[in-house]
Amino acid sequence: MRLPSGHDVDHDDPRALVLRFLDKDVRADPYPLLNCIRETGPVWFGTGVVVLSSRAHCEAALRATDSVPASVDARTVSAARLRRAAESAFSADAVANLLPLVRALVDDRLDSVAARGRLEAVTDLAYPVPMAVLSHVLGLPSGDAFWLHRRTMALSRALDPRPLLTGTSDASGLVEHSRALTELEAYFAEAVRKRRRGAVSDDLLSRLIRGDDRTGRLTDAEAASVGRSLLASGYETTAALISGGVLALLRAPHQIQALQRDPGHARHLVEETLRMDPPLQIVQRRAEADLDVCGTTVPRGTVMLLLPAASHRDPALVSSPDVFAPNGDSPHLAFGAGPHHCFGAPLARLIAQSVLVRFTQRVVAPRFALGSPSYRPAAALRGLQALWVDADGFAARDLPWQPSTA
Ligand code: HEM
Repeated sequence: MRLPSGHDVDHDDPRALVLRFLDKDVRADPYPLLNCIRETGPVWFGTGVVVLSSRAHCEAALRATDSVPASVDARTVSAARLRRAAESAFSADAVANLLPLVRALVDDRLDSVAARGRLEAVTDLAYPVPMAVLSHVLGLPSGDAFWLHRRTMALSRALDPRPLLTGTSDASGLVEHSRALTELEAYFAEAVRKRRRGAVSDDLLSRLIRGDDRTGRLTDAEAASVGRSLLASGYETTAALISGGVLALLRAPHQIQALQRDPGHARHLVEETLRMDPPLQIVQRRAEADLDVCGTTVPRGTVMLLLPAASHRDPALVSSPDVFAPNGDSPHLAFGAGPHHCFGAPLARLIAQSVLVRFTQRVVAPRFALGSPSYRPAAALRGLQALWVDADGFAARDLPWQPSTA
């Protein structure tokens, strides 16, 4: 496959294709490159790192028993006992109970946008709604949102695999990352201490240290690191899904009308956004034993970089992979698969569906404002930086929410 102009890179050098995918100027449309990488097959960087991008390779690597999450936050919660303790808070039932809260938060945001008369979907909707929901679940004060936002964003920079692939180090990134990690650890340790003192009692952190029959109680340090991991895993990813969904609507205005007619259509829109524009574009795994990944031998200790976004456009999977078609058939690995699949998926889906439904109900005739959408530079966690929307006005909050989006 030839790349469109602008993606100047040596097609015969698979490693150059992978490194080019990390460059920030391809962030708006990394998909031609990802298609090329997938067609090339597994790409090795020395013997220690392999990039896997077909659907079969990604799925096998995610499901393999001896393939473990490599990032610090996924590692914390993937320890089986901690995962069991946290995941019940995100079951389908627990998440359905959050629907009234999510709706109220979305309406609050749209009220403040209406008062100002201008909408920038990333800062006005995509970030604040998941931060407010996660803060509610974890019992964190709403006034801490901006502080938490800054630290969480600094953590996600460490997901960039360029230092791993090139053997270089990103000294300023490391400093920024370890400072954010230390500050978040101290923050959650203090949050747990407050609960020990009995100052707060009705939230997930309190339940984790009280314990239940299935998992027993967590130590203070365990509860604090679960809290930090949930915020780090769930915040920016969900924000990227929301802004990606709004962008998909603006690009296909007939989908706005379809959603106005049938709020249940939000489910398909969100799944197709997850297929076309998955927030997590690089999932890092480590082989804990020698693995056979669909015929590729992966020795113990190898880091596997999985590219779900490439796998989603595998023609083996969908007949027109580059076409946005929210028709209920969007096979994807955006939430992973197997024992470490994302247990926050029901919450992310509920939040994203609710935002899209209400956006089409309350924002009158939404359309792109001047200027194209801009992306944050990060490749691993890809998301919009700004998305200005013009509208003819904003409908009032008392408009009824149509049938459940849960
Ligand atoms: C659109 C939003 C989200 C996306 C795209 C996403 C994506 C993913 C993916 C791909 C994995 C698997 C990583 C691997 O296999 O190594 C994962 C795991 C995880 N996710 Fe999510 N996630 C999202 C939202 C959330 C939310 C809202 C939460 C919790 C509040 C959450 C918590 C977690 C945790 C704790 C893990 C690690 C599970 C384990 O290793 O056992 N995620 N997520």
